[in-house]
Amino acid sequence: MNRRAFTKELLATVSSFALMDSLFAYNAFENKIKPIADHWAIQLNEFCSDLRTESIDAAQWQAYMEVLYQQIQLEDLLKFINFDNLIKGFKYPDLGVHTKPVKFPKLSGLPEQTAFMKKVFGMKKDRAIIPHGHSNMASAHLVLKGEMHLRHYEKIRQEEENLIIKPTIDHIAKLGDNSSISDEKDNVHWFIANTETAFTFDVILLDLNGQSYDIQNIDIYESQNLSNGTMRVPILDVHTALKKYGKNTHH
Ligand SMILES: [Fe+2]
Repeated sequence: MNRRAFTKELLATVSSFALMDSLFAYNAFENKIKPIADHWAIQLNEFCSDLRTESIDAAQWQAYMEVLYQQIQLEDLLKFINFDNLIKGFKYPDLGVHTKPVKFPKLSGLPEQTAFMKKVFGMKKDRAIIPHGHSNMASAHLVLKGEMHLRHYEKIRQEEENLIIKPTIDHIAKLGDNSSISDEKDNVHWFIANTETAFTFDVILLDLNGQSYDIQNIDIYESQNLSNGTMRVPILDVHTALKKYGKNTHH
């Protein structure tokens, strides 16, 4: 069994509660057989191309991304993407976020055209990545700077101009924390910056399942409670959604 297959098998056997433990085991094993492991960017690209080709499913991809993001040294990532340079003169919008594309340096074993999109998202305090769901997309997010109030919801289904959702995550995402979305798990997310500025690094895969991606902005303050902890939430056009949720006034 090669190392990559071993990693996958190992990851497949653990629940997300055990991910931290497995991570240490994985590192210990890794260090013994191969002191200089593949660069994390190469692994990242492999996970993403495996999702694209459906060699792994989206929930597996999310579990792998969680482990990988935990492994990456923040300092290393910041240097690798030249973060200081990226945010020089960064234009923080008054509503919502601004994004900048990320370029990876040349690396042997890493194709110039990665299997995923990569960006940084930045915002000022109280600004938000407004609450939204996704179709035919997967993305994984790592906090690079500051803190954010992060909420996730499971998308149960779409009913005409509403999403039926169920809360799954509600916590403060701190430096180095990560999260992810897919059609399978934690599809809806919402970030509000808690600090003067806040940034995430985002890995994004569009048009999965051979279909065009879509984003549904939702009016979470107008949600209506249904049975079993689910909620019915109206879908908003992006302009209305940004006006209402781009700058948080609910404290
Ligand atoms: Fe999103």
